[in-house]
Formats: sequence, structure tokens, C-alpha cells
Amino acid sequence: MITTRHLDVPASAHGRGARLAVHLAGHGPLALLVHGYPLDHRLWLDTLHGPLAAHRTLAAVDLRGHGDSPGAGDAVHTMELFAHDLAAVLRSLTDAPADVVGLSMGGYAAFALRTLAPTLVRSLVLTNTRAVADDDAAKAGRAAAIATVVEHGPRAIATAMLPKLLAPTADPLLRARVLDMVTATPTATIVADLRGLAARPDRRPELATLGVPALVIAGEHDPIATPAESTAMAAAIPGARCEVLPGTAHLAPMEAPARFADAVTAFWLK
Ligand code: MLT
Repeated sequence: MITTRHLDVPASAHGRGARLAVHLAGHGPLALLVHGYPLDHRLWLDTLHGPLAAHRTLAAVDLRGHGDSPGAGDAVHTMELFAHDLAAVLRSLTDAPADVVGLSMGGYAAFALRTLAPTLVRSLVLTNTRAVADDDAAKAGRAAAIATVVEHGPRAIATAMLPKLLAPTADPLLRARVLDMVTATPTATIVADLRGLAARPDRRPELATLGVPALVIAGEHDPIATPAESTAMAAAIPGARCEVLPGTAHLAPMEAPARFADAVTAFWLK
């Protein structure tokens, strides 16, 4: 069973105060699940209903402006702002360090959380994510996406992103679930996310001193966080390894929920 809590985060130097929805399932020590751009907690529905709930209390947050968390009107969603929110969520839910699982933008936010509040993080699962910052071409792509969403709305972003998010063999129901999720994300959220994504720092210099156990998960056909880049990221983190999930692209927890859960279970229970 999934229950939802709403938590208030005070304003800070990073942004305005916000009310965040957190969707909880399972029992045991806390594991925080952080979705990517421009998604929400529904990325984790199979995970919340799956075997990981036997090992952890799974907390799938809706980042501000996403899913059931209203936007707070910030012009930019920096990864530091998201990390500040995640730290507040963790402090509300547990006294112990938590296992953190971040997909893509959720992984960027997890890196920022580890820097902002290292004692809150016990381990990291970095799935379909990257350590590098945007180069000039990627920043130009973000600016073009902002123009697209402002002119044509979230549906245009959803249609453009779908071939990158899911492997060509993904079934129609999965495609519809992802399209629905992206289309439901407000334009103002997408714009603020894109600005924050373009501004995020290069985390590669921090990988050698990450200081927590880490598992990297990659999709065989992920064009955003490629298997080669993910393998290199894992190699730079002491003790980490990269698991590449065959037949998947950018959304491993939705495309291969059982194999995703197996990989995370083996990591958590080792
Ligand atoms: C995501 O899934 O969060 C995005 O693809 C991240 C990005 O575009 O860098």
C-alpha cells in the first residue's frame, strides 16, 4: 500500500519555501527515490509495489513543481535547491542516514545532497545519470527546449523526448504512461528544471572522494547517460560497479522493474 505525506520545506538561500509530496511504501530503513526530468514519483510505481519494499521504507518524493508537489514560483530549479528539499524530507522522515536512489536529474540532485548534507546519505544508487556538466551544445539544447515548451507546451517536450527515454521495443502502455507523466508537468516547472540542468556543476572531481557505497545502473540503449559514460563514472568511484540493463534506454525502473530491483537488492543486502 502507498501512503502520501505532505511536508513543508522552509525558504532558504537556494529558493522559496515549498510543500512536497512524498509517497511511501514498505518497511525498514529509509530509502529515498528521486525522479528525473520532467517526470514525477510515478517513475517509481513498479519499484514501490515491488520486492524492494520488503527491505526498505521506500520514499518517492515529488520534487517541487512535479507530480503532487506544487511549484513555488522559483525561476531556476538548481540541483542545490533540490538537495535542500531532499535534506528536509530526510530529516522529517528518519534519524538515520538513508539509501538514496536517483535517476538522471534525480542523480544530479543526489550528488548535490551528498555534498550539502553528507551525513544524511548512507549509499547511492545512480541510475541513468551523469557526472559531467552540460557543454555548450547541451546548454543550447536546453535553451531550445525552453523556447519549445513556452511556445507549444509540455506535450511537445514529451513527444520529442520519448524516443530518448524508452527503447524502441517499449510497449504502448509504457509509452502512454511516460507521455502522461511528462505532459502533466507544468511549463513553469520544465523551464525552471531546464535552467537548473544547464547550470549544474561537473561532479567528476568529487567521484574519487564520494565516500559512500555506490551502484551505477545504465541502460544498454540510453542515449542520454550512455553505458560507456556510466561505466567510466563507476570506475571513478572507489568500490563502485556499473550494471548495464539489456534492452533498456533511460528509464530502467519502468522498463525493467524486476532487473532493476534485483540489482538494487543485491547492492543493499551485500
Ligand atoms: C533526466 O532524465 O532527468 C534528464 O534527461 C536529465 C538531462 O537531460 O540531463
